Amino acid sequence: MKVIRDPHEMQEWSAERRRRGIRVGVVPTMGYLHEGHLSLVRLAKAESDVVILTLFVNPTQFGPHEDLERYPRDFERDRALCEAEGVDVLFAPSTGVYAGDHSVYVVEEVLSARLCGASRPGHFRGVLTVVAKLFNLTLADVAVFGEKDAQQLRLIRRMTRDLNFPVRILSGPIVREADGVAMSSRNRNLDAASRAAAPRLQASLRAAERAFERGERNVQALRAEILDVLGDLSPGELDYLEILDDQSLSEVGDLIRAPVLVALAVRFPGARLIDNITLNPEAPHATRPQ
Ligand code: PAF
Repeated sequence: MKVIRDPHEMQEWSAERRRRGIRVGVVPTMGYLHEGHLSLVRLAKAESDVVILTLFVNPTQFGPHEDLERYPRDFERDRALCEAEGVDVLFAPSTGVYAGDHSVYVVEEVLSARLCGASRPGHFRGVLTVVAKLFNLTLADVAVFGEKDAQQLRLIRRMTRDLNFPVRILSGPIVREADGVAMSSRNRNLDAASRAAAPRLQASLRAAERAFERGERNVQALRAEILDVLGDLSPGELDYLEILDDQSLSEVGDLIRAPVLVALAVRFPGARLIDNITLNPEAPHATRPQ
């Protein structure tokens, strides 16, 4: 496996492969890899000839009081995992991704208004900007993102469509710990009490899903179901719980008539966790969260 740190070298490496008709896949990450990331690598390998995993803790997507400094990092561990998984290039730019006087950003104006976009102003401006840069640096034919970051995934698809990036976006399902907690690099920053409360995120979504499968279509009833299972999350607190149109992320009214995204976020002292499911009235039994 090759480790590339220089952005220009990355671009040259990919340009040379593309000239030879080799299909390039990319899995963008911020490192501290877990099974969720590795499942995306496997998806990328199935859809391309060579796979690049990018590892960059992107400062522009963190707010001034967020966890940029505390974000877990372990380069040697990540390198070994990539090697074992058959990644071809680990692109881990140390410097030079942003010019000192960088001043151009990608801003999405509709889908980013709610959910994490409302709680973390500027977050998606940073995400979309770095993803656009990574698309240009890796020249990928295929890029794979996780479905845990449901809003991020929809925004990246929208950016790719609206700015005509020649890259196919694929997604991989949420990978969970044995107790249902969605895998996240941030989980290691949870204290014991927060970790003990964390399984209630998925449990609450599953309760809503069971109600949906029984025929419940009322948005307030499903919200009540979720809040009931979440209960008192202390030392955490609910950031948001939303049931929105799955594609436009707009309000759906009182009754669910088309696919919805049920998304929630909880702020624990060490980390903010997110989780989601989609509910589809046309296939009510086909949406079980893993
Ligand atoms: O999902 C992430 O890990 C990050 O937001 C991403 C897409 C790698 C951009 O920094």
